[in-house]
Amino acid sequence: MYSIDKLLLENKAWAAEKTADDPEYFERLAHLQTPEFLWIGCSDSRVPANEITGTQPGEIFVHRNIANMVIHTDVNLLSVLEYAVVHLKVKHVIVCGHYGCGGIKASMGNHDYKQVLNMWLRNIKDVYRLYQEELDAIPDLELRADRLTELNVKEQVMHLAKTSIIQRAWFHEQRPQLHGWVYGLKDGIINPVFDMGSDTKIESLYAYDDL
Ligand code: CO
Repeated sequence: MYSIDKLLLENKAWAAEKTADDPEYFERLAHLQTPEFLWIGCSDSRVPANEITGTQPGEIFVHRNIANMVIHTDVNLLSVLEYAVVHLKVKHVIVCGHYGCGGIKASMGNHDYKQVLNMWLRNIKDVYRLYQEELDAIPDLELRADRLTELNVKEQVMHLAKTSIIQRAWFHEQRPQLHGWVYGLKDGIINPVFDMGSDTKIESLYAYDDL
């Protein structure tokens, strides 16, 4: 384990190494941010967006929360989404869950995590309810959690499509593509499970007419 001082020492070593490799590295990054991707991932420390996709600082705009949720009253998530889509003009938005997700497992149980976590996990329970028949039919709890992880990612991608932010960008600029992925902690492989693009027909109840 790293002590807090070790983190700062490692940071100095990293910065020195980067500068030695490429003297203009920080100068260049400081002036320009043009990521093509927005990543909405789980806060889990084992799923670092840049590392598992082989991307560098400057390439992915990142938002993370417990179980990679897209909640339509979450001002933090919506601000990140709006900035990434409207101002950075990202081409892709990726919701990336992961097998073995603690948030997903917690949502399947009955433990009282007290109010704030209960409130957050409640959103995942609501996803379970939508697919209850399919999920209840999977006897192995591990496999059931894995399937809920996939279905949750799909639901969160659909939540993105229900925002006027995405609908407006689709209508005017035919971007971004939305992707639902699930990362495997055991093998490091990303499983793409669901996609949506600007040609998607939005359920009429959620479609905005003043785009
Ligand atoms: Co997780």
